Amino acid sequence: MNILIVGGAGYIGSHVAREFLDRGHSVTVFDNLSSGKRENLFPEAKFIHGDILDYTGLSRAATDRRSAGGFDALVHLAAFKAVGESMVNPEKYSVNNINGTINILNAAVEGGIKNFIFSSSAAVFGRPEYLPVDEAHPTNPESYYGFTKLEIERFLGWYDKLKGIRFAALRYFNAAGYDVKGRLKGLESNPANLIPVIMETACGIRKEVQIFGNDYDTPDGTGVRDYVHVSDLAIAHAMAMDYTSKNDKSITVNLGSETGISVLEIVEAARRITGKPIPATIVGRRAGDPAKLTASSKKAHDLLNWTAQYSDLDMLIKTSWEVYRNI
Ligand code: WQD
Repeated sequence: MNILIVGGAGYIGSHVAREFLDRGHSVTVFDNLSSGKRENLFPEAKFIHGDILDYTGLSRAATDRRSAGGFDALVHLAAFKAVGESMVNPEKYSVNNINGTINILNAAVEGGIKNFIFSSSAAVFGRPEYLPVDEAHPTNPESYYGFTKLEIERFLGWYDKLKGIRFAALRYFNAAGYDVKGRLKGLESNPANLIPVIMETACGIRKEVQIFGNDYDTPDGTGVRDYVHVSDLAIAHAMAMDYTSKNDKSITVNLGSETGISVLEIVEAARRITGKPIPATIVGRRAGDPAKLTASSKKAHDLLNWTAQYSDLDMLIKTSWEVYRNI
């Protein structure tokens, strides 16, 4: 099939592009390279350097019928994702995430693209009321970022009803790791997520890891999360596209490993795997952090036959270290 990947040069987008190429699809990446990287582009994929806020350019890309008669599916991963920043600069998230998505949806309609795979987030749920979090869990985002993802899911529902766009909203839990075959090396700039912070400490870019609280109601007192390998996420996008195109139905699913891992467990595994000391200091809790967050991915399993295969602790750290050790 012919796939347009908006945000395909970013961390998750580039893994998704690789997966679609591996499955023999033809891929066009549309990205403004604001956080995406040229080194994340593949020679087999066509690249359009464009911005989702420029509707003319976006619609030109989405309506291009020169190759294979137009696009069969669009994957949307073009969003800002810094939770803290979204609380101090919501305008930036309104414009890029909301306005940008409306442009993408309208361009998809114009281009007659019927399948739409959207990169959503566990941030739509907010503080967990029960665990594991399934799709029926109430959605009360605690951040403006999470609110933008939830609103986009609602727009998708309307475009399904009114315009026949079949979507898959994929609610990722904590995405981590790098391509299991070692083909992707583009590092995120100024990462704030735990595993990249630990990797930067192992490389000496940072002096220490700050552990945000060790007095949570968890086995070792540190925060527990559901880390899902980016290669598993990439596979889920391809399966979701198969699902929406074959069943002519939209779906919203959680993507997680269904395993909780604590901050300390990750630090310790990283010390073992990298052989580096990785100094860590306990500091105060970070505002808004729940003690524990784990997913139920039963729905993704039942509907897509997807299960995380690469999301065990060692694979998350080993594939990350393979990239960081060489910088
Ligand atoms: C993981 C754990 C921290 C950094 C975020 C977004 C969420 C989703 C995924 C996009 C927590 C602890 C972290 C550090 C630490 N994003 N930690 N020291 O907050 O679970 O989820 O990314 O959709 O919406 O909120 O991820 O990697 O920041 O934190 O101790 O320097 O590591 O407290 O327990 P988080 P994270």
